[in-house]
Amino acid sequence: MGRVFVAGSINMDVVATAERHPRIGETVAGDSVLYFPGGKGANQAVASAKQGVPTTLVGRLGTDAFGRELRSFLAAQGVELAFVKDTTGTHSGTAIITIANADNTIVVVPGANARVDADDVAAPTLATGDVAVSQFEIPLPTISAFFKRARAAGATTILNPAPAKKVDAALLDLVDILILNETELGFLTGTELKDSDAPARFAEAAGSLAQGKIEGKIVCVTLGKRGVLALVDGEQMLVPGRAVKAVDTTGAGDCFVGALASQLAGGKTLRDALVYANIAASICVQRMGAAPSMPTAEEVKAIVT
Ligand code: RIB
Ligand code: NA
Repeated sequence: MGRVFVAGSINMDVVATAERHPRIGETVAGDSVLYFPGGKGANQAVASAKQGVPTTLVGRLGTDAFGRELRSFLAAQGVELAFVKDTTGTHSGTAIITIANADNTIVVVPGANARVDADDVAAPTLATGDVAVSQFEIPLPTISAFFKRARAAGATTILNPAPAKKVDAALLDLVDILILNETELGFLTGTELKDSDAPARFAEAAGSLAQGKIEGKIVCVTLGKRGVLALVDGEQMLVPGRAVKAVDTTGAGDCFVGALASQLAGGKTLRDALVYANIAASICVQRMGAAPSMPTAEEVKAIVT
């Protein structure tokens, strides 16, 4: 079995729940304030580790109370933390999140995450069959360095370009599997895509991305409650979403990415991994919080047929 290595962000999510989101300049009274471990890197690492696959996180924390809490939470989830450094002179990554009607808005302040560098990602040793995963909450040159090493070691690389940022072709060249949502796909292809668009629209956009920039690669577009669309060498695979009652979608995309990585490291086919990850994400949205809402392998397998 391969291992999963995630280079990415670790945040404390400070969550306010309210009946509705405030408009610009408006104040609304909230119902509760909650502190949840999060950050796309940490969320994806937890999602993978909970599937029983050895998972190593590479990242940074501040030497503050949030940092200590995040480290002990991640250790308890079974994530290998030998390559998570404590960093002075900055704070642990913090996300300020508002949730109303299961929809969220997020402001992320990177803090220590902005310091994750090429030396950090050079520390762990990857091997053939491993899966290397990253997202856009650490510096892009760090991700390039990580994927170059991963490729040289014979590992598969997965990029989740979230939150969306301009990305150069050289980085996309280092990616085997690109996993993104409709907003990120719209941003990267310069097209306007909406939730309600037909799958064909997404397939077209994903196709243009694949041909123009990452030929021979796999593009997975997560479509929320509509499931996931994967494009493999021009072939479309649609895995329909599951009808569940969402209470908090924060980290659902991360759950998908981490669960998919774990299954690929475990030697599963892409189709099986997509079905599995789709179910994992549908469980995650039914619970509050990002990292704490990641399901276990037992929970997912109880639904996989
Ligand atoms: O993808 C969800 C994550 O984005 C949250 O946990 C928050 O920390 C932000 O990084
Ligand atoms: Na959740």
